Amino acid sequence: MNHHKVIFHKLLLIFSLIFLNSCFDPELEHGVPGQFRAMLKSDPATTIVLGWNRFQSNKDDDMVFFDTVDHGEDSSAYAYQVKPQFYSEYKKIPSAFVELRNLTPSTRYYFLVQNSFGNSKRYFFETLPAERSAKLSIIAGGDSRNNREPRKAANLLVSKLKPHFVLFGGDMTSRGTAKQWWQWLDDWQLTIGSDGRITPVVATRGNHEKSNDILHKLFWLPTSNYYAIDVAGGLARIYTLNSESSIGGDQTNWLVNDLEQKGKNARWLFAQYHKPMRPHVKRKKEGTNQYVHWSNVFFDHGMDLVFESDSHSVKTTWPVRPSTRYDSEEGFVRDNRLGTVYVGEGCWGAPLRDNDDNKSWTRDSGSFNQFKWVHVDSSKVELRTIKVDNAAQVGSVDINDRFNAPENLEVWTPSNGEVVTIK
Ligand SMILES: [Fe+2]
Repeated sequence: MNHHKVIFHKLLLIFSLIFLNSCFDPELEHGVPGQFRAMLKSDPATTIVLGWNRFQSNKDDDMVFFDTVDHGEDSSAYAYQVKPQFYSEYKKIPSAFVELRNLTPSTRYYFLVQNSFGNSKRYFFETLPAERSAKLSIIAGGDSRNNREPRKAANLLVSKLKPHFVLFGGDMTSRGTAKQWWQWLDDWQLTIGSDGRITPVVATRGNHEKSNDILHKLFWLPTSNYYAIDVAGGLARIYTLNSESSIGGDQTNWLVNDLEQKGKNARWLFAQYHKPMRPHVKRKKEGTNQYVHWSNVFFDHGMDLVFESDSHSVKTTWPVRPSTRYDSEEGFVRDNRLGTVYVGEGCWGAPLRDNDDNKSWTRDSGSFNQFKWVHVDSSKVELRTIKVDNAAQVGSVDINDRFNAPENLEVWTPSNGEVVTIK
């Protein structure tokens, strides 16, 4: 080999090593089942969906072991076992899912998952209560793309507040690449307590989820990405809507029908979707379609509370109803008796924007990393906005006292008061 060829080969080797090194991310290595997520699709008192990354496992080896008794990591001791009912592959992320049914309400279920590489850790979840006399703790937020530090802080705070479930308003990642989702799923593991408590999520599609297929594959959502669940025997019915597909037509027909058939039996009605009707950030387009198709439907059927995302700012409104009256602003007037409260707008790690678009019916607004903490019983709904940056310093709630703020929890105290109460 002549001198030039040797130099050429040495350079080639160096560049290959640099290239390989830049592709290699130690976080991307896994084996035993991981990247767990639990989802609520039908009655959460008796059913739950569990999903995980099965990595390069042989499907024949995949198995979920579960029981109401904790057998730790001894898979053979668990009373029940079930194989995945749904497999998917989003880019390079192979997921497996089970829906556990006929569970006992208000009960702790321990589980672990096996694949060709071995067993996962032992996790547990709790089925929701079945009675309306229950009191629920819910966390609602959205927009976790780009900034992993605040995203991880918010996730960690979920593990510490131990809510019954999380409502997540979309835009999990910015570009939906395999790497971004892989990191998102890794970060989501921070919502799981060190004791193995897994909190279910009710996921919504955002505009950064380019198709309905993504959340179908990663969370086993219905292919429409819109659905409704009843919680605690009708204490609340919660509508997850899809602002990223066509809004009029099938989706709104389904919504109206459901509100008429099932919504009318619920004590409270909540909705979540990604893009706000009236963003509190000027550069964001008005949500004309949502306003035209949904604002009156919400008002006519007594929607109590709506969670919006997308703008990366913070807002709560007074109860409002659609109106074109002389004193209306952007199509709404305040109506304390019959109006709907709208809150948002997504700050789970996305780049913050100025809250520069308040209306006369805005209650408070701001710009910081946050989610909503909502307590619901049959007499009232109480909503607080929680600043998430100091998550590491916050204490953990006692599960039997999960409505009392833990040590160092930073509750936003704007001029109109820290608690939004709906009666
Ligand atoms: Fe968005």
